[in-house]
Formats: sequence, C-alpha cells, structure tokens
Amino acid sequence: MISTMKRVLLVFDTKFGNTEKLAKEIAAGIEETGTAECKVIGIKEVGSEDISGYDGVLFGGPVHAFRATRGIKGAIKDAAKKGLDGKLVSSFDTYQAPGHKGNAARGIEGEVSKRAPRAKIFTPGLTALVDGYEGPLNATEPPKAREFGKKFAKELAG
Ligand SMILES: Cc1cc2nc3c(=O)[nH]c(=O)nc-3n(C[C@H](O)[C@H](O)[C@H](O)COP(=O)(O)O)c2cc1C
Repeated sequence: MISTMKRVLLVFDTKFGNTEKLAKEIAAGIEETGTAECKVIGIKEVGSEDISGYDGVLFGGPVHAFRATRGIKGAIKDAAKKGLDGKLVSSFDTYQAPGHKGNAARGIEGEVSKRAPRAKIFTPGLTALVDGYEGPLNATEPPKAREFGKKFAKELAG
C-alpha cells in the first residue's frame, strides 16, 4: 500500500525548555489526526536534516526582547536554502509578559516569507504564555497547542 501519511518537521529554539515542550504538544496534536507523522528537532539539527522529505515545517522559539531569536531566524535561513518552496509552513512562540509579548511568531512568518517566498504560510501561528522567565508553560497552553497541531494537520491533508 502506498502511504499517504504526511511528514512534518518541527524546529524549535529554546533557552529553558518551554518551547521544546510546546513543540512536542503541537506534534502530539498533529499525530493524533492519524494523517501525519512528526519529527521535533532543535535549531542545531537543521543542518543535518533532509528538508525535502517533509510536506510541512513549523518553526518556533521564545520571545526575546519582543522578537524572534537569532537562533530560529538562522534555522529558517538554513532550511530555506535547502528548500521550503511549496511546503506548508507555520510558527509558534512562547512569551512571559502579556503586555510586552512582542510577536515572535509573526516575526518567524516574516522571515519565512523573506527567505522562502513560495512557501505556503499557515497563519496565524501559535503564541503561548509561560508562568515566569524560566516557565513552566501556563497550564492552559498544552490543549491549545494540540488543537493548533490538529488544524495544521487538517490543512496539510487538504
Ligand atoms: C533575553 C531574554 C529576553 C526576553 N524578552 C521577553 C520579552 O520581550 N517579552 C516576553 O514576554 N518575554 C520575554 N522573555 C521571557 C521568555 O519569553 C521566556 O523565557 C521564554 O518564553 C521561555 O521559553 P524557553 O524555555 O523555550 O526559553 C525573555 C527571556 C530572555 C531570556
């Protein structure tokens, strides 16, 4: 039988581990649909990943000084060089201060559009609250992340 399972890559940057946890929740939501399988990797692993094998790619990281981190932007640049054209791409971020959250997820989308104009952006990305500088993830966020993952997988399945 020919497999129709879609393949999704989630790339995260993190300082304290919260954005990695969020990425794993999104991945669980995607896989719950039964239509896609996911791999979750850190930014340093992008270099050794064969991006061409994926139908969808998500990039996420913490908000640092209102913005997306240099680390995740670098990962987008590396991935785009290998080819994000035609893939469904989305974003996620974690922030600590609701009044000063900036918008890293939007920044990530912008970076993808700049580096890979022919990627299809799944928007808006997910933005998730952490309770304090080092976390943990606010308890309301994991269910939202799973829901976001499901929506992404449904869009990918068409
Ligand atoms: C250098 C630095 C700058 C930060 N700037 C902001 C900020 O502008 N707004 C905000 O809401 N949180 C800010 N934070 C808090 C981070 O968003 C929080 O540490 C992060 O979401 C935790 O995710 P992580 O565990 O994946 O690193 C900052 C954290 C660091 C380390």
